[in-house]
Amino acid sequence: MSTTKELLERTEKAKLGGGPDKIKKQHASGKLTARERIDLLVDESTFDEMGMFVTHQSNRMGSDTKYYGDGVVAGSGKIDGRLVFLYAQDFTVLGGSLGEAHAKKICQVQDMAVKVGAPIIGIIDSGGARIQEGLGHYGGIFFRNVVAAGVVPQLSIIVGPCAGGGVYSPALTDFIFMVDGISRMHITGPAVIRAVTGEEITAEKLGGAKVHATCSGVAHIVSATEQDCFAAVKDLLGYLPSNCNERPHRKPTKDPVDRLDEGLETLVPPNPKKAYNMRLAVEAVMDDNKFLEIQNDFARNIIIGFGRLNGCSVGVIANQPLVYAGCLDINSSVKAARFIRFCDAFQIPIVNFVDCPGYLPGSNQEFGGIIRHGAKMLYAYSEATVPRISIVFRKIYGGALSGMAVSKYVGTDLTAVLPTAEIAIMGPEAAVNVLYKKEIAESADPATTRLKLTEQYRRDFANPYVAAEDGWVDAVIEPRKIRPFLITALDRLKDKKELRPAKRHGTIPL
Ligand code: HXC
Repeated sequence: MSTTKELLERTEKAKLGGGPDKIKKQHASGKLTARERIDLLVDESTFDEMGMFVTHQSNRMGSDTKYYGDGVVAGSGKIDGRLVFLYAQDFTVLGGSLGEAHAKKICQVQDMAVKVGAPIIGIIDSGGARIQEGLGHYGGIFFRNVVAAGVVPQLSIIVGPCAGGGVYSPALTDFIFMVDGISRMHITGPAVIRAVTGEEITAEKLGGAKVHATCSGVAHIVSATEQDCFAAVKDLLGYLPSNCNERPHRKPTKDPVDRLDEGLETLVPPNPKKAYNMRLAVEAVMDDNKFLEIQNDFARNIIIGFGRLNGCSVGVIANQPLVYAGCLDINSSVKAARFIRFCDAFQIPIVNFVDCPGYLPGSNQEFGGIIRHGAKMLYAYSEATVPRISIVFRKIYGGALSGMAVSKYVGTDLTAVLPTAEIAIMGPEAAVNVLYKKEIAESADPATTRLKLTEQYRRDFANPYVAAEDGWVDAVIEPRKIRPFLITALDRLKDKKELRPAKRHGTIPL
């Protein structure tokens, strides 16, 4: 008969994963072990493990490859007192590679999280599909990622290799966290690339955190250390509800709801050609000036992220005049569209800080498909039924009126503008060139005539009061009052319900 002593011995063995030597190697490569990671992530003594004694049952592998847990530590725990389901791949066991038993444990975590309505967190450090076990077992995980999408938040933390088909589970989740110098994500590694195309590239340059933060847009948050990364995961989770049927948890604040910010009065420079930093406006308005920016190094012409207003989470989408004058382009449209859909799926109201001259012109953009990519953002805004408020800081012209959800025709609930706002179908310079082409050409001094006409157009058409008279905007507000305006507006909208025709699902132009 087995005894408690035996249980404790077996537990000790399981906790060592691939054994002391492999743990030493893991630490020497600058990485934490799966269990150390879980300890950093969850509240003390809250981790409940499932499947600790699972081993692979493959007859193609020797018995010396059987390790308790089969290379993944799985279970549930609490983060800031709230339930999460999680798994951490254990690189010390067969390189964290994914065999059938390993995959089944991850699937169990996913299934339970969806049934219970709690977020799923995957900690990934793996050589991909376990080569000796033959056909990959990722399919069931991908399938469950999709079933869980929009039901519970799904977060992936890449803290080691994430290669081959293994990249697609994180890719199907909502947020990917990476750590500089440790995370590597690629479909095919440097050796395969060299063999197939002859290209020479290092693993870091191919799939390191920097590349995915700046170039591919795969990473949402990059940290310098694993410790910072786990802190960022907790921070982000704090803005989210546990599932789509809940509202995000309110975090009480001492920041007064009627706080005015005098700095906002002078943020927008009087010279329309001069840029300013929209992030400062976002920070000025949010509770305790705190804003968690997502994908801050990718498509920097648009800012996305989470803040709180009177303790309630909001998703912020803001044009950044410092980059491409805040134009919309392919990458910024896709970045914003995905974020809008996430917020809508999880009952997070959306606030737009707008200053956008339109879509970035050029053959690169047209050939790259700005038409179909730009449509994603329009689709996402129109589809969203959460409370939606837009504030125009400076300019908004033409198609971007809908593209940035200033127009109420795309379902925006409230649109406010600052006195500095220019709202018109076209920018003053472009409009004057069309409307007064003949006068300018025939004038003795075309440049001065154009300038005069531009000023006149700006006065007569591109100002907030024309738009307000036409009913395009609901309020013209003082910049310092943006915070109280938004808090009141969100309070009025908090019980908003909007029903759309039933359908199987939409056909977003992917
Ligand atoms: C089995 C694996 C493995 C794998 C690593 N190991 N990857 N075992 N299957 N996929 C084992 C190694 O043999 C080694 O075992 C241990 O893990 C540590 O690996 P090292 O190579 O020593 O570590 P390191 O130098 O840090 O390199 C890590 C690595 C490299 C970059 C991940 O191991 C590697 O390139 N592995 C293969 C990655 C890959 O191509 N995966 C794609 C699989 S196909 P010992 O016993 O020596 O400690 C796939 C398709 C799925 O994923 C399709 C789904 C639809």
